[in-house]
Amino acid sequence: MNFRLLGNRVNPPFSNTFTSAPHVVSFKPVNNCDMNASFFDKHSIRLIQAPMAGSQNHRLAAAVFFAGGLGSIPAAMLTSEQLQNELTAFKDAIAAEKRKVNAAAVQWGEFLPVNVNFFCHTPPTEQLEKEAAWRQQLTPLYQAHGIDPQSVGSGLGRAPFSEESLKLMGQFKPTVASFHFGLPKAEWVQQLKSWGLQIWSSATTVQEAQWLEQQGVDAVIAQGLEAGGHRGMFLSEDLSMQMGCLALLPQIIKAVKLPVIAAGGISTAAAVSAAKALGANAVQVGTAFLTSHEATTSALHRQALMSDAAKHTALTNLFSGRPARGIVNKFMRDFGPLNPEAPAFPLATLAVAPLRAAAEAKGLSDYSPLWSGQNASDCQALPAADIAHKLLQGWA
Ligand SMILES: Cc1cc2nc3c(=O)[nH]c(=O)nc-3n(C[C@H](O)[C@H](O)[C@H](O)COP(=O)(O)O)c2cc1C
Repeated sequence: MNFRLLGNRVNPPFSNTFTSAPHVVSFKPVNNCDMNASFFDKHSIRLIQAPMAGSQNHRLAAAVFFAGGLGSIPAAMLTSEQLQNELTAFKDAIAAEKRKVNAAAVQWGEFLPVNVNFFCHTPPTEQLEKEAAWRQQLTPLYQAHGIDPQSVGSGLGRAPFSEESLKLMGQFKPTVASFHFGLPKAEWVQQLKSWGLQIWSSATTVQEAQWLEQQGVDAVIAQGLEAGGHRGMFLSEDLSMQMGCLALLPQIIKAVKLPVIAAGGISTAAAVSAAKALGANAVQVGTAFLTSHEATTSALHRQALMSDAAKHTALTNLFSGRPARGIVNKFMRDFGPLNPEAPAFPLATLAVAPLRAAAEAKGLSDYSPLWSGQNASDCQALPAADIAHKLLQGWA
């Protein structure tokens, strides 16, 4: 991967391939898809809790589902066994709720009412020299934190969708399987579809949305540049082609016949209404749930999200090798935020891991990935249901 970057390390070549966002002259939704047939109408799903690997599990997914949205279980950082445990725990939570309340309210036929999310990157070929050179650059930091540079691991920190993932999908039948960084191989997508699962994937440009439509996905997540976490970009590495949600959403809606989910910077009922007005079929919200009671976000991360530090986020490749948005911290200031010398995704992950652990043990988030969207200003320590209810008021 060689992202052309807008950071302070690399100047991107001028890209002149943008088309301008259409001027939206009315509040009438301009969605091309058959609204009546859409999954979102059938299940009245308007709010999707964004999958957030490393910051949540089935508890958040269940809480948002019981509050009227659709929750997500992120699988990118889980082994197959851990994913199986997560799905079992979610299933148990639904079964327990069914016993307590009206069973019809949680009745989704044979499907588990949840979105299970996977990364589907192609793991890079070995980059032994690049990894060694990167660890060499970090050696003064390792030494300053009492870490033996020889002990620093190398290898892959995140696994893509696999044969085992497929088996688990067949066994648990979540209602949605969603993907970041494109799609897994076509035969796996076909298998998932033949079981009746919805297939969604993130698009960060109009071209990506059109590509996904050609591959037969059921819905596209328009991931605006404001979004926290990894950019789902997969057709181009040119960051200058990435757009904010307000520009991206109407252009994708115009270009495809699929339902479109708006993501990026949505944290209030008013923002939900704006996405609806632009023709979105639903919204996907991440950052606003990071400080919910049910998220597993660390105390340091929560503190950063609810502080002035969260006013400054940037795209960085330092923590994984791919651009992702997080709150600017010491590591990003000193080494990036974007650095072409960082190993390819996901190889960069393990080099920073011991620094993160050492700093966190001292109460510092200097080397932690503080993933956040550009708008963390509405982050509050609340039950996820309260956050979901507030957001859903915007769709009423
Ligand atoms: C902490 C964090 C982790 C994320 N992890 C994932 C992930 O595992 N899979 C994925 O598809 N998107 C992931 N995202 C991106 C979200 O799906 C979504 O695009 C984003 O949260 C929307 O923007 P917002 O954060 O401004 O609400 C993550 C976002 C955050 C904040």
